[in-house]
Parts: sequence; C-alpha cells; structure tokens
Amino acid sequence: MPANDDQLTVEVPRSHPPRRLGLSGKLLLLTIPLVMIAGLMIYVPAIANFRMNRLNDRLAAANTAALVLDAAPLGMVPDSLARQILTSVGARAVAIKMGQQRRLLASADLPEAIDHDIDMRTMTAWSAIVDSLETMLERGNQTIRVVGPAPGGAQFIEVVIDELPLRQAMYRFSRNLLVVSLGIAMLTAGLVYLALHYLFVRPMRRLTANLVGFHENPESAARIIVPSRRGDEIGVAERELSDMQRDLVSMLHQKSRLAALGLAVSKINHDLRNLLASSQLLSDQLASVPDPRVQRFAPKLMRSLERAIDFCQSTLSYGRVQEAAPDRRMLLVEPVVAEVRESAGLAADASIAWISAIERELSIDADPDQLFRVLLNLVRNAAQALESRPKAEAATFQIRITGRREGSVAIIEVSDTGPGVPARAREHLFEAFQSSGRPGGSGLGLAIAAELVRAHGGDIHLVEGTIGATFRISIPDRPVELQSVRNERARA
Ligand SMILES: Nc1ncnc2c1ncn2[C@@H]1O[C@H](COP(=O)(O)OP(=O)(O)OP(=O)(O)O)[C@@H](O)[C@H]1O
Ligand SMILES: [Mg+2]
Repeated sequence: MPANDDQLTVEVPRSHPPRRLGLSGKLLLLTIPLVMIAGLMIYVPAIANFRMNRLNDRLAAANTAALVLDAAPLGMVPDSLARQILTSVGARAVAIKMGQQRRLLASADLPEAIDHDIDMRTMTAWSAIVDSLETMLERGNQTIRVVGPAPGGAQFIEVVIDELPLRQAMYRFSRNLLVVSLGIAMLTAGLVYLALHYLFVRPMRRLTANLVGFHENPESAARIIVPSRRGDEIGVAERELSDMQRDLVSMLHQKSRLAALGLAVSKINHDLRNLLASSQLLSDQLASVPDPRVQRFAPKLMRSLERAIDFCQSTLSYGRVQEAAPDRRMLLVEPVVAEVRESAGLAADASIAWISAIERELSIDADPDQLFRVLLNLVRNAAQALESRPKAEAATFQIRITGRREGSVAIIEVSDTGPGVPARAREHLFEAFQSSGRPGGSGLGLAIAAELVRAHGGDIHLVEGTIGATFRISIPDRPVELQSVRNERARA
C-alpha cells in the first residue's frame, strides 16, 4: 500500500557528529604506543643483561689477575705491578679464596665500607632486572663487591669496584638503545601504518565517500559504487552495497514514475468528479419528467452517477500523499456509532436490523473523524453485502456493532449476516484497488480503514468462522507519560 509506506516514512533529524580523528589518525596514535611498549619490553632485560656482562667481564679480568698472584713467589707482588693489574681489571681490590687461604691484591685507597654485595653465583633473572634498575636510579659513587666462581681449585673470587663507571656505561647503553629502537619503532610504525592504510583505511574511505555521495542523490545510477575484486570482507561489503544501491535506484525510479502517474490520475479524477456532479444535477430533473420510460431509467442513472462520484471522491482522498496524523482524545463510542448509522442511511432503513451492543460508557482513545470514517466504511460494506442477497431473505438482514474493552485496548466489531467476504477478495483485503469483489466498488474502503486504524497503533482484521462477515478493530490507548502523571500529581 503506497500510502501506508508513505506513512511509515518518519523523518528522523540527522545529527552529524563533529568530525574528529579519522581512521588514519587513530591508527597512527595506536601504533606509536604499541611500538613503544614493545621497545620497553626489549629494553628492561637488555639493560639487566648488559650489567651482568659488565660484572662478568670484571670477574674474568680478576681471574687473570689471580693467575699472576698465584705465579708470584710467596704471593708477594710489587706495589707498582699490583696497581697496574688492578687498573687493567678496573677494580680496587681482587681477592681469591683457596681452601682456608684468602689472597688479596689491594690498591692503596681501599674503601672503608662496601655499599653492595653482588653474588654472581646465586643471581636470578628477576634479581638481575631489579638490581640493574636500582643501579640506574642511584646517585653518587658506591662501592660494590662482586663475588663469582673461580677457576681451578679456588672457591670463589671477589672484586671490589666502583659503581659510577658501571652506571655511566649503563646510561650510555640506554641512550644508544633508545636511539636505535626509536629509529626501528618509527620505521615499523611507518610500515604498519602504510600497510593498514592501503589495506583497510583507503577502501573504507572509498566506501564512506560513496555512501555520502549516494545519500546526496540516491536517484542517480552514476553514484552506485563499482565493487573492487577483493575477496575479503571489504569486497563483500562493496558488492552488497552496490546491489543494494542498484535496487534502491530502480525502486526510486519506479516510485517517482508512479507518483507522476498518480498525480495525473488525481487531476483527471478531480475534474471528472466535478463533471459528474453537474450531470447528477441535470439527471435530478429527469425524475420530474412524467414519461414512464424516463421514470424507469432515472433512478438507475442516478445511482450509477452517485457511485461514479463516490469512486472519484475516495480515489482522490486516497491519492493524498498521507493521511493527517490522528488527533486523539478519549471519546465515547456510542454517539459515533449512532452518527455512522445515520450517515449510512440505516436509521431509516427498516429492512436491515441494527443491533448495537456496546459496553456502557465505553470510551476509546481515537481521532473522532477518523474513527467515524473507519466505521462508516465497514458499515457501508456490510449494508452493500446485505443488499446483494435476495430480498426474500430480508428478515435475516442484520448489522451488529459490539464494543468492549480489554485492559487498555478498545475493541469494536462490525458484523453482518451477509454472504461473507468472497474468497478472491480475501487475499488482498486491506490493499488499495486490489480487493474489490463488488461491481462498482473501488476496493479502497478497507485500505483506507486499515491505514487509519494502524495510524492509531491499532489493528483491523477479518474474524474467521462467523456467519456473514465480522471485522474486528482494536485500538490501544496511548501509553501514559510518566512525567506528565508525576507533574499532575505534584500539582494536585
Ligand atoms: N461485510 C462484507 N461482506 C462481504 N464482503 C465484504 C464485506 N466487506 C468487504 N467485503 C468485500 O471486500 C471487498 C473490498 O472492500 P472495500 O471496502 O475495500 O472496497 P469496496 O467496498 O469494493 O469499494 P469502496 O469501499 O472503495 O467503495 C468488497 O468489494 C467485498 O467484496
Ligand atoms: Mg467498501
């Protein structure tokens, strides 16, 4: 039903979020910290390892010095040689323990106290990391004693060294590593960025640009995206989007052609109705002509003119793009039903029994004019269905209207004792121009009724398995706004 479709089109105000960072910018911002984290994970063990190597170097040099000590007669080494050896080892003192004997090779300025002890024999990876960080954070010069395994039969070897040169070397190492890893990080980040940019960001931008362009002019076939040959998800998205846009463009073309046609038909219809109305005025005068042949034909002519005018009228009202939104309020059903009876000419018609079984004081939350139109259409259909039956059965002609409430839903049923809805009319009963099984009918009455009921959030359907035809309308009350109830309570 085109009119229904139109009604469903709700204009949602589009709010464009302010454009901040594009995909590329986000990608870059994400890559840099990730590469930096990776750098840090490399740096921490590297600096610990550097320090261990440094200390092991000292121990290895001390081992060489120990050989000299061993070689010296009685372990006595001249002072100048001792100093030379210690300088080359980079230590203030070297000691080696062999059995019960501890042999010391010391410089003159041996410190009074040792600040730290490092035993390379029991060093773990974790303590190496923690110690190296501590060394980096310390200030001034400390003295440390490094103990390590000794060659030959010796138990261990010790060296006393200054911490400051070690720390300075560690700083140098850190600086060099930082420079190198920064270079690598920038290179990696650049490569990752470029790869992701070409693989994902560019095609996504193309999709986005196409969507924006298509939105501006959805009727232009030139804006349909040309899918690339990618086999991944982006390729699938492009192909699906292209199919969707193609369908949409052809649907819009069809719709605009139909709209143009509809407009032309409405114009023709409008003038036709006016012409018919003037013919009706003329034919009214025919009734006063005494000629019996004229008297015989005049009522038929009048009736068919009336039908033609009705047809034009209902097509015109259906052709309006959209019914106005219902102006709903709580109203009593009974008076509306009485008015419908009057308008359908059934109040004066004794041949059709009218039964109204409406709950006392039944109210409904609806637009009075639209409810009237819905009921009039149903009652008219019922009356027309009864008229199609043989006059001999007139005693059983009956139209019954019932009304009741089920919670917050008002239900009205219109039933008749006619022949029932023919099978071929049932299939598209509520679709415009589709369902008329009645000569002279336009097939619009039920379509209009359904559109009005649905605009109230309600439902209309044919009840199965009844004598004749029964149409049931249910219209729910509008949900009560909690805020307004609260306001009312507050005011009370
Ligand atoms: N109460 C009924 N009993 C039997 N058939 C019905 C009844 N109501 C509707 N129909 C069938 O459904 C068809 C569609 O009804 P609808 O009111 O939409 O159109 P119409 O009555 O043919 O034309 P219009 O109402 O636009 O003048 C009717 O032609 C008729 O065949
Ligand atoms: Mg009808």
